[in-house]
Amino acid sequence: MNISSNSRAWANLIQHHEKYVDLSLRNCFKTNSKRAEQLSFSCGDLWIDVSKQLLEVETTELLFELAEEREVGRFFDDMFRGDVVNLSEKQRALHIYLRDPKIDDGEMFGDVSEEAHENLERMRELAEKLENGSLVGASGKRIRSVVNLGIGGSHLGPFMAFEALREYVNPEVEVRWSSGFDLADLDDALKGLEPESTIFIICSKTFTTNETLIAADNAKEWLLEGLGGSWDEELTHEEYETRCLSQMFAATSIQKNALSFGIRQENIFRFSETIGGRFSLASPVSLGLILSIGYENFRSMLDGMHLIDEHVRENRRNVPLLLGLIDVWNRSILGSNSLAIVPYSYRLRKLVPYIQQLMMESLGKSVSQKGERLGLETGGAVWGASGTDAQHSFFQLLHQGTESIPIDLIGIVVLPDDSQLHLGLATHRENLISNLIAQAEVLAFGNSLEENFDPHLKFKIVPGNKPSTVILAPELSPSILGQLVALYEHRTIAIGAIWGINPFDQWGVELGKKAAVQIANELYTENWERNFDHDSSTKSLMTRYREWYNSRR
Ligand code: F6P
Repeated sequence: MNISSNSRAWANLIQHHEKYVDLSLRNCFKTNSKRAEQLSFSCGDLWIDVSKQLLEVETTELLFELAEEREVGRFFDDMFRGDVVNLSEKQRALHIYLRDPKIDDGEMFGDVSEEAHENLERMRELAEKLENGSLVGASGKRIRSVVNLGIGGSHLGPFMAFEALREYVNPEVEVRWSSGFDLADLDDALKGLEPESTIFIICSKTFTTNETLIAADNAKEWLLEGLGGSWDEELTHEEYETRCLSQMFAATSIQKNALSFGIRQENIFRFSETIGGRFSLASPVSLGLILSIGYENFRSMLDGMHLIDEHVRENRRNVPLLLGLIDVWNRSILGSNSLAIVPYSYRLRKLVPYIQQLMMESLGKSVSQKGERLGLETGGAVWGASGTDAQHSFFQLLHQGTESIPIDLIGIVVLPDDSQLHLGLATHRENLISNLIAQAEVLAFGNSLEENFDPHLKFKIVPGNKPSTVILAPELSPSILGQLVALYEHRTIAIGAIWGINPFDQWGVELGKKAAVQIANELYTENWERNFDHDSSTKSLMTRYREWYNSRR
């Protein structure tokens, strides 16, 4: 069913919007003293205030009716039950199973639980061996550093969590992260590491991603060179290389072909095809994270995810769904072009690129799961930066620009360090949260906050009426991080279900990957200019590259 053409709930929302097209947040708060209370919600340990969004309390009722009509609840029921919900790949979406404590307890349900339980046990053991010093490399030296090679969902999630949970990282173990082709990235990740005490995790769900496999080859070279020839004279070079690869590399993937890289079976953590890359934080994709923060903290993050999973499972009208409905309201009815994410926490700064992949790779589609054209705006751009840096970068546009850009302001009330460093009247903690709260207020009410503002000074007008959602967390712990991740996962899936698009596939990026491999192969073929069919721009760029490259070799 095409949502915009034959949906009663949609028609009601459009009609409702026409009635409130000139909605003023100033008036909304003035005429309804209970607005904040009616539009603020707790979800797990999070506090979520949507009262500064451009909507009425009545709007949320109509939005929930849309969700009912779009059978969003049934979509989630199907997903939780383990039915196929990813139609284009005929796949289930079982990431929620991975964080269920029943898996940890070995209680079997669903066909991924046995593998998932075994993976948790094995990752726990590996983390303990690394921590107690019994994990040694090919030459017998204690392993002290780990390098994760991965990209997209095999990098953004675990790396984000690693940065967010720095306070929980084992200082005895150096975990580094490298993604992409640029050798400078890998060089930086390897800087100062000792080959004999370094292991690599090849983190790739499909084990076919060029960036990761080429990085793995470079890492192998670095390792073999660094180990400087066989230390055991009886070994042939091949036997020596095999031993290095088998002991110094681990892989997290759904594929058996990690074995072909030379990684021994006990270092391969296979997981199910039903775990989407951008939904895989609870899977062995997080092996590098587990080795840095320890298994118990990882378990606590999973428990936080599970807390929100249960909130969604048990409540038809749940908070992630409401956030998703508001995104649809802003995007498809109010016509906003993007969503800004601004965590007021240095440690959460990598949450932005993580959510970018989660929401843009899930929602950047223009046809429904049934192949119908949707006839309305779907996934927009998701962007942002950590506050208060963002205030000195793009908040000017948010306050006085011609666009109305919805923004999520995420605040952590208690920062990990308890230093009461006083910067003026308030501690750095109060300063940070005060900026978050103040920005939400000024975005909503603009100059009306000022007494005797002179409206003739047109360049000084800050109109207000700019929508924001404030998400507050009491602290930044593994559980809270898990709750934030699950909140955005379910919000994203809900938006997909409302629009009728598939939040779990990513055919668009597959074509790009193929084109890149073709051009790379052509670029290094001698008489390539004459043999390959490209547009004049692509050919001229390839020519330019070849000329500059050849002139500098
Ligand atoms: O960006 C495309 C994509 O397939 C993502 O969905 C995925 O997270 C990433 O590439 C990496 O894929 P893999 O984990 O298979 O290397």
